[in-house]
Amino acid sequence: MPLALAITGVAQAQDNGEVEVLNWWTSGSEAKALGALKDDLAEKGIGWKNMPVAGGAGTNAMAVLRSRITSGNPPTAAQVLGYDARDWAERDALATLDDVATSEQWNDVFPAAIQDFAKHDGHWIAAPFEIHSTNWVWANKSMMDELGIEQPTSWDEFIASLKKAKEAGYTGLAYGGQPWQDTTVFENVVLATGGADFYRQALIDLDPQALDSDTMVETFDNLRELLKYKDDNSPGRDWNLATAMVINGKALYQIMGDWAKGEFLNANLEPGKDFMCFRTPGTQDAVTFNSDLMIMFETDDGQQQAMQKTMAQIIGSPDFQIAFSQIKGSVPARTGLSADKLDACAQRGYEQVKAAADNDTLMGSLAHGYAAPASVKNAVFDIISSFVNSDMPSDVAAEQLAAAVQSATS
Ligand code: GAL
Repeated sequence: MPLALAITGVAQAQDNGEVEVLNWWTSGSEAKALGALKDDLAEKGIGWKNMPVAGGAGTNAMAVLRSRITSGNPPTAAQVLGYDARDWAERDALATLDDVATSEQWNDVFPAAIQDFAKHDGHWIAAPFEIHSTNWVWANKSMMDELGIEQPTSWDEFIASLKKAKEAGYTGLAYGGQPWQDTTVFENVVLATGGADFYRQALIDLDPQALDSDTMVETFDNLRELLKYKDDNSPGRDWNLATAMVINGKALYQIMGDWAKGEFLNANLEPGKDFMCFRTPGTQDAVTFNSDLMIMFETDDGQQQAMQKTMAQIIGSPDFQIAFSQIKGSVPARTGLSADKLDACAQRGYEQVKAAADNDTLMGSLAHGYAAPASVKNAVFDIISSFVNSDMPSDVAAEQLAAAVQSATS
């Protein structure tokens, strides 16, 4: 074959179009994890147009997504969290992924808690990347050793260890003062203070009596105590910069979802040796989860439709679920995979997610879109962040929380 023809042949075989993917994965480990998808698509001749919108938990990304859709120019696909997927499905904006789901038997391999959000009216409308959970503490191991700190198993021991770090001149808690991070920490304290039933009543059922209860007042007292151990530069700090404080020996702990572990792994650190992971003391029996979902937007373009299906198939496949979580810090959303290739925290995490699902203590994270609609979530963000940034008394906070949730739901 003449050279020119051969080259054209290659070019044609490789050009199967390009997907545009909106996401908020901009930290080192997040971008690397997304790269795994980009590479798998490239192997199938599909190009990648990244549309990153920085800002943890996707608050900024969702504003950009809304404006793209309203102006009639949706991307090929977007990363979203639970209630946002539901919202776009209700507005008939999404392509269904039923073909892929049927051929890949998604009904049998994804847990019910995920199907609740990845399906709408019986149709698959999203491909789940993984399961993250928010009730984790990430700890600097050498600081623990230096200060003689054993892994705390109760809230009181946890606070006592923070105190030890502070007295030794370290920052106890690496803290990012942004609304979604304030509420991520808050939901940990709700679970540690009131247990799984209380978490469900207050943050999922939105029961006004639980929201404005003595237990909620106690929760705010515990949060106030915890906040004594953050540093003065926390306002506005990004989550991955807080993680870096633990990595670099500036702070003892960070309370954060397991995407934080992605940053440790990206720095070539090993759990158990260089850093420790444990469930937030007092929350060991439950898992507050979120799962990043890839939704695809309805289009008349046949080539785009084919690429959407390919992308969904890749995301749901066993190999990808493992490879992605190895970088991202999460665990696979698919059940029944071998966890051998995952790090020690993820191996435990994968078991814990399964146990929690079996015991009905696998509960959606409020800060990450799996407990309540965005209107409620944003109303809670406002109250929690005003509490964090002021001297608001705990009983006033509980009262305002109940009132804010009520007005967001009425
Ligand atoms: C979460 C998301 C994670 C991670 C984190 C920080 O909401 O599920 O994948 O990106 O935000 O941005």
